[in-house]
Amino acid sequence: MAESLAAPNARWRKKCDIGFLPSKKLGMPVSKSSAVLHPDLAEVLLTEAQIRARVKSLAREIKAVYGDSEFTIIALINGAVMFTSDLLREIDNPVRLDCIRVTSYGTKTKSIGTPQIIHSLTLDIARRDVLLIDDILDTGKTLRLVSDLVRKLKPSSLRTCVLLDKKARREVEMEADFVGFEIPDKFVVGYGLDFAERYRNLPGIGVLKPEKQIAGAWATG
Ligand code: IMP
Ligand code: MG
Repeated sequence: MAESLAAPNARWRKKCDIGFLPSKKLGMPVSKSSAVLHPDLAEVLLTEAQIRARVKSLAREIKAVYGDSEFTIIALINGAVMFTSDLLREIDNPVRLDCIRVTSYGTKTKSIGTPQIIHSLTLDIARRDVLLIDDILDTGKTLRLVSDLVRKLKPSSLRTCVLLDKKARREVEMEADFVGFEIPDKFVVGYGLDFAERYRNLPGIGVLKPEKQIAGAWATG
């Protein structure tokens, strides 16, 4: 493990697909034989392979609801960037894509009150079937705010899809129509999810070590 703490980026990346420890709750069989964890992660929740498999099955669930018809995807950026791009490629329907930029965390790991819409839609979604995509449903405030905004624009239907659902932290009434994984109340990063804009490029999803959940820690590496 001491060696893996010093592992350069490329090394853990090469091994992470088999090295990430499986989440017992998910019961996914993953080899532990050459576990090399990103040094800032306390544990791995979802490997790249687990995510890939679930994205494929989620796409089938979505397809079962929309059939072959066209719909408009609205991704909440930046967090949903990777999830949306992978999910899009598993869907063969005609789709339109737009993004809304929302911020609520800044450099902290707890929601700081009301989320803010920084950049809104450019497409007209009136009378369109809309699928709103986010990385994670936590307190529910972000998806609630954006759903309410989108509904005012009179789509013919509105559904929501999140990769992760932290049910234990819900503060407002909000459930997603499509959920990739339910996860425990831990601050996670990777596959688009960040802490202070870092870690979005990790291929899997893991729990950030508590000592790394301090914005100032970055200055000293
Ligand atoms: P909510 O408004 O509290 O539901 O938070 C939703 C947003 O908070 C998501 O779009 C994420 O950007 C962010 N978020 C919530 N939990 C986490 C986490 O564990 N890691 C990284 N970002 C998170
Ligand atoms: Mg975020």
